[in-house]
Amino acid sequence: MSTNKIYIPPFKTQGIKSKLVPLIQENAHIDDSTLWIEPFMGSGVVGLNIAPKRAIFADINPHIINFYNKLKTREITPQQVLEYLREQGALLAQKGEEHYYSVRERFNEDHDPLDFLFLNRSCFNGMIRFNKSNGYNVPYGHKPQRFAQAYITKIVNQVRHFDSMIHTHEWRFLCQPFEETLALADKDSFIYCDPPYIGRHVDYYDSWNEEQEIMLQKKLSDSGARFMLSTWDCSQYRKNQYIDIIWKAYTKITQEHFYHIGAKEDNRKTITEAILTNYSAHTREAYKAT
Ligand SMILES: C[S@@+](CC[C@H](N)C(=O)[O-])C[C@H]1O[C@@H](n2cnc3c(N)ncnc32)[C@H](O)[C@@H]1O
Repeated sequence: MSTNKIYIPPFKTQGIKSKLVPLIQENAHIDDSTLWIEPFMGSGVVGLNIAPKRAIFADINPHIINFYNKLKTREITPQQVLEYLREQGALLAQKGEEHYYSVRERFNEDHDPLDFLFLNRSCFNGMIRFNKSNGYNVPYGHKPQRFAQAYITKIVNQVRHFDSMIHTHEWRFLCQPFEETLALADKDSFIYCDPPYIGRHVDYYDSWNEEQEIMLQKKLSDSGARFMLSTWDCSQYRKNQYIDIIWKAYTKITQEHFYHIGAKEDNRKTITEAILTNYSAHTREAYKAT
């Protein structure tokens, strides 16, 4: 397994694949001529670490896409993020909850990407969740001292790294449903798909059902490209039955993942993650595949 540093993007998202990056890296065989296509980019941690020369990153959630597009056009700069977080962080320290909710209200009217970053980094558990009218509705994380100098530096460094990658690579960011993104693929593309996990958590941007999973398999198969899909294989309690129904023709590689629900040590759970490919992958893990 790779021991390379994993770069973390500025946004936190549910289902972020930071821990799976080495496995994905080992099995995604691409070169400088490959067009990397990521229809469910979320935070962007996978593409950021794979660092393809040419890429299309897309997601149905407009807010992260908007932030990265503004970095690309330099309407947002790392320096501006620094100044913004210092100012808003000081207001949070002074007013606490009242300030968090005033930024949330402002964001739901103006959709300012800097406010989205602030909310994402000070809300409860770094969640991204919207109601039916597209309003961001995650409650306050109750940490008024959240934006201490070290934390601001960490976030700004994450923005700086993403920003430098955007300006040295041919990357496009599109807000659109996966069907439109997959229509851009051809046989020289490599598609990495990380849809919301079927049969698990759902919310407005993350709702996902069997019909969509079947459509995804069909569009991936029609694209003629090599692809890799992330999904869950099993938990302590159940197995992802869709793997044997929808994805049975593909190569499966699995990895156990530990995670916490809430703050208590005994809330440690495991889930076995899977990556499925339509080509044969050659890593050590491949031989462990069931
Ligand atoms: C599991 S997350 C991706 C996480 C990402 N790989 C990461 O490491 O941060 C799934 C993403 O799919 C997006 N999504 C949900 N339905 C979609 C659709 N129909 N088309 C495109 N994106 C969709 C969600 O907004 C979410 O960002």
